[in-house]
Amino acid sequence: MRILFLLATVALGWAQYNPNTRPGRTSIVHLFEWSWTDIALECERYLAPNGFGGVQISPPSENVIITNPWRPWWERYQPISYKLCSRSGNEDEFIDMVTRCNNVSVHIYVDAVINHMCASGLGSENNATCGSYFNAKTRDFPAVPYSGWDFNDGKCKTGSGGIDNYGDLEQVRDCRLVSLLDLALEKDYVRSKIAEYMNYLIDIGVAGFRIDAAKHMWPGDMKAILDKLKDLNTDWFSLGSRPFIYQEVIDLGGESIKSSEYFGNGRVTEFKYGAKLGTVIRKWNGEKMAYLRNWGEGWAFMPSDKALVFVDNHDNQRGHGAGGASVLTFWDPRQYKMATGFMLAHPYGFTRVMSSFRWPRYFQNGKDINDWVGPPSFEDGTTKPVTINPDTTCGNDWVCEHRWRQIRNMVIFRNVVDGQPFSNWWDNNSNQVAFGRGNKGFIVFNNDDWYLNVTLQTGLPAGTYCDVISGQKNDDYCTGLEIDVANDGTANFQISNNDEDTFIAIHVDAKM
Ligand SMILES: *[C@@H]1O[C@H](CO)[C@@H](O)[C@H](O)[C@H]1NC(C)=O
Ligand SMILES: *[C@@H]1O[C@H](CO)[C@@H](O)[C@H](O)[C@H]1NC(C)=O
Ligand SMILES: *[C@@H]1O[C@H](CO)[C@@H](O)[C@H](O)[C@H]1NC(C)=O
Ligand SMILES: *[C@@H]1O[C@H](CO)[C@@H](O)[C@H](O)[C@H]1NC(C)=O
Repeated sequence: MRILFLLATVALGWAQYNPNTRPGRTSIVHLFEWSWTDIALECERYLAPNGFGGVQISPPSENVIITNPWRPWWERYQPISYKLCSRSGNEDEFIDMVTRCNNVSVHIYVDAVINHMCASGLGSENNATCGSYFNAKTRDFPAVPYSGWDFNDGKCKTGSGGIDNYGDLEQVRDCRLVSLLDLALEKDYVRSKIAEYMNYLIDIGVAGFRIDAAKHMWPGDMKAILDKLKDLNTDWFSLGSRPFIYQEVIDLGGESIKSSEYFGNGRVTEFKYGAKLGTVIRKWNGEKMAYLRNWGEGWAFMPSDKALVFVDNHDNQRGHGAGGASVLTFWDPRQYKMATGFMLAHPYGFTRVMSSFRWPRYFQNGKDINDWVGPPSFEDGTTKPVTINPDTTCGNDWVCEHRWRQIRNMVIFRNVVDGQPFSNWWDNNSNQVAFGRGNKGFIVFNNDDWYLNVTLQTGLPAGTYCDVISGQKNDDYCTGLEIDVANDGTANFQISNNDEDTFIAIHVDAKM
């Protein structure tokens, strides 16, 4: 009896850390600002066949329309109601996307903006994406409904009403983040309205939530909301499955709020990961890849089973949030592919791949003055479709990093080596490193400025393998480099520092 009870508690207590991806699919992709129609198509035509586990979508809830004169991407982080219409599409299109993606076992993770509503100075002259009336100046959001009682205006202790000092955790959680109206999450009414929204999404069939601005909410308030959530829809998930929760907490160290305060609620975004990996790959501050030998907890990151990891996200790829200049993005493709390849080969954390749109980046005094620019769109503000070129890349300024051969093939690599230990580490005490994943896969990097020519123990069965970075195995033919693993498991690797991609990855599903 007692043991059964304990087991049940443990199972329940851990459920929200489980990403709910189909077994053998180990990564999700953030299709930033994509329309629901395009995501549905991408699930069917690309993500399912290539082993992606799911998609993080942009916030689906109604938001304020900002025209200055063009629409910024960040307007979607200013909710007006929990109705499902946004630049990405309406409720019917949302339901169709979730159904079609679930049908091919690619699950949907919703970016839930629940800490706040829109900026405090917006009035009834402003418009919202579903056409709902609101007036932020009088705290009136009848489409939820929220009124003056539902905000933290009285609770916040700063004169400005905003967060003035990140060292003061009460300010960070009770005051307005960049003037956004802070919801009174200690009120059961507010908690219930948020849970109602999230439960409706669960009914439709989503698999989990990214909790936006989690650091700006008290962990206990968030727990009270999460405790109201239903189990996942049994049309697609097994009975008793809990929604996957990952909380946006930017903790690079040295602040009053720690990621660990949120572990009880679910996973947490590990922002140190991309900031440090970027520093290493760029070889800044004397860092070198040889130091990656103990990557993960050894670098003072959170425990692997609590971490959601990424090279860049929609904020720090354009200098928002935190993480700083070291973060690698598609703008530095050669180093970006290496960083993403390292992340996907390494066992630490649950991995999220970024998929971006291009914007007219323009630096003035070290700051990108176009960091606000929204997704590729027509004159009327409608988001442009993601077109697919004959070579499978994307058009209309959609970058589609997840379709880059090197990144897509490493998503597959991670699935193939799932559950295998980190093994056979080698380094030259500089920026040439290699490691394996048990007897399933092996990867070698040359980030030095000279040739690499070395014979290494791979741990793999003997045979000829197709490098999935320079090419891939198509039927019986390898379009890239071939690597011969000898009977003793060793193989010779040669990588010129002038190669297009200075890394090689082999795995047992790409054996000739
Ligand atoms: C999803 O799959 C079910 C069962 O295979 C099928 O009946 C349904 O039409 C599919 N729905 C969509 C939107 O593809
Ligand atoms: C709101 O929409 C109306 C009608 O299209 C328009 O005239 C008005 O300028 C919009 N308001 C703002 C602040 O964009
Ligand atoms: C690794 O780098 C060192 C210099 O730091 C160099 O002497 C050595 O040849 C390199 N090792 C290999 C295997 O290339
Ligand atoms: C690579 O190393 C092997 C063994 O040391 C040597 O025989 C071979 O010539 C080297 N190849 C190149 C291209 O440097």
